[in-house]
Amino acid sequence: MAKFLVQKSGPLHGEVTISGSKNAVLPILAATLLTKEDCVIMDAPALRDVDVMCRLLESLGASVTTDLENNTVEVNASGQIASEAPYDLVKMMRASILVLGALLHRTGRAVIHLPGGCAIGERPIELHLKGLRALGAYIDEEQLSRGIVDARADHLKGNDIYLDFPSVGATEVIIMAASLAEGTTILENAAQEPEIVDLANFLNKMGARIKGAGTDTIKIEGVEKFSGVSHHVIPDRIEAGTFMVAAAITRGRVLIRNMVPNHLKAVIAKLRECGVEIVMTDEGVLVCGDENPIISTDIKTLPYPGFPTDMQSPFMALLTVSRGPSVVIETVFENRFMHVGEFNRMGANIKTEGKAAIIPGGKQLQGAQVVATDLRAGASVVLAGLVAEGTTEVSQIYHVDRGYENFEEKLRALGANIMRIEE
Ligand code: UD1
Repeated sequence: MAKFLVQKSGPLHGEVTISGSKNAVLPILAATLLTKEDCVIMDAPALRDVDVMCRLLESLGASVTTDLENNTVEVNASGQIASEAPYDLVKMMRASILVLGALLHRTGRAVIHLPGGCAIGERPIELHLKGLRALGAYIDEEQLSRGIVDARADHLKGNDIYLDFPSVGATEVIIMAASLAEGTTILENAAQEPEIVDLANFLNKMGARIKGAGTDTIKIEGVEKFSGVSHHVIPDRIEAGTFMVAAAITRGRVLIRNMVPNHLKAVIAKLRECGVEIVMTDEGVLVCGDENPIISTDIKTLPYPGFPTDMQSPFMALLTVSRGPSVVIETVFENRFMHVGEFNRMGANIKTEGKAAIIPGGKQLQGAQVVATDLRAGASVVLAGLVAEGTTEVSQIYHVDRGYENFEEKLRALGANIMRIEE
């Protein structure tokens, strides 16, 4: 199994170009099943999750050509499409559930064993199913009690749907299902993440009539048929945020290219509260961690446009070394403090109490053997390793490979001392 060896590094300097968004490309790839024509997806990041989604589409009957060196994926789903997603792929990635709506449209049935994914709490899908039921799908309750989603629908019909929580996945599944249903769907308390907007833009190019994506109310007028399209995926805001923190924690100066500052308003505001200078330039976003002392701030994760839960652990790495105590409150996931134990092995002395983590701050971290407990936690212990004395050995880095394209190469190009070793 591969590991990262991270040594204390000086201030990071230089430029980094952000890859296409993992969380945008996954639903877009699922949506390619909605047309029998060719789709070309550009700026698709070369990541393990993207590879799993491509294999899932193939196993369902689509023809998929990946040129991930050029970040392009072509999908043609004109052939016979299967109703059942193979468990060996689904268990590798929770986002497999995103094919639900497309399978219902293409085959009248969708059978998916409930997926795994990051080890961050229960992650139920009752909201996805509530939406599909409202559109006229029948879900077999007996199968569901055994952990299998078995949904059937000869014909989906638009409806008014209110989500009890603005779930990203549920919003995406419902948009896809409703866009080829008969009549109009109004989805309220929808997720507002930029990835939802990218999916809606992609579907609208295909011929969908979706309005309001990016707000809490999305109106979808069903159409009969989609055509094939080409689409550039938006930049990955979480990768951009992670590199912003890398510049801040090492007291460096990094120009971040291909980042959309509007997608990271909460993270930018919080970094500024910590004393990080952030300058918008024509070339990209210049992050200066060397201008002021880094001071602590409190954060609370929320659905977009609030502070992203996926940035909680990378930001916590910064708070372990910043001046003064801070409190981090996680409201999106119920079990997303697994990285705290890893930071504590490095001397962070963080305490958790329910949804809150109390961080004393101001620590000189020490290198240690730590585990990438999930995707973002893996990136966050690497960030901590950059400022820890000695060597930090990070295991289970396959989690990091799920979501960061060329993570160690990009960090090394900025001067970080990080190596991948195969054991
Ligand atoms: C997506 C992102 C993930 C991010 C998360 C929240 C992808 C591929 N993944 O995950 O990186 O961390 O958004 O920003 O885009 N919930 C329910 N019932 C449901 C659905 C969700 O209670 O039916 C709860 C979940 O348990 C979780 C919270 O809502 O606590 C957020 O989940 P959701 O927004 O659905 O996240 P994902 O789409 O899984």
